[in-house]
Amino acid sequence: MLLHIYKDYNTLASMAANEIIGVIKSKPNAVLCLATGETPLLTYEMIAIQAIDENVDFSRCTFIGLDEWVNIPPDNEGSCHFFLEKNIFKPLHILNSQIHLFDALEKNLEAECRKMDKTIRENGGIDLMLVGVGMNGHIGFNEPGVPDNLYSHVIALDTITQSVGQKYFRQSTKLQSGITLGLQHFMECRKVIMMASGIKKSLVMRKTLEDKVSTEMPASMIRKHDNGVVMLDEEAAALLKKD
Ligand code: F6R
Repeated sequence: MLLHIYKDYNTLASMAANEIIGVIKSKPNAVLCLATGETPLLTYEMIAIQAIDENVDFSRCTFIGLDEWVNIPPDNEGSCHFFLEKNIFKPLHILNSQIHLFDALEKNLEAECRKMDKTIRENGGIDLMLVGVGMNGHIGFNEPGVPDNLYSHVIALDTITQSVGQKYFRQSTKLQSGITLGLQHFMECRKVIMMASGIKKSLVMRKTLEDKVSTEMPASMIRKHDNGVVMLDEEAAALLKKD
């Protein structure tokens, strides 16, 4: 695992954008799985600009959804679907045929999970996952205590996720469960970039990087990944030991 600490959020976002563009340049038909949320937002804005400036071609990439709030429709601004559409797919002119997201309104969510696992297998596995870290250490919706051998699954959301998640919605929204790729996908992915920014993430990043590796802190699993890169700004790294 590599750890990079950048002086501020802007620098972090621009370095993460470079990493992602670098993957596309070396493998134009890469399979990508990109988190939603506040952390990577500026990175995606930078990718959209860089893609034009550097003539980066995303037309052969495949996009896999990381997670979704169960029962939240895609036209709800707080949904992962809406976020990806607005911040990645539209700006990069990604076609529907390149996109595979969870349908969180599907009645048979178990079948939806198996469909996603099959899609990932048929596309040769995920080349790059970009993940954020929740205030409880989750990645995707892999909540504390999740088994480490799961692929896609439906999971009851931790109370922290339910309350922090309100920030994405205009009005108070019932967030009880999520559908998500599993830690098994995370470990099998060819490259993982984990991003965190701001002082509010400093404690969770110390636990992630310095306490024992455990699914009680799902983000800590990155320390077992063969090709994991953790990218932080100085605030998120504030509680790490100096060495
Ligand atoms: C979003 C996701 C979540 C977030 C995490 C951090 O697709 O999978 O795990 O990455 O909750 O969210 P932010 O970046 O909003 O702090």
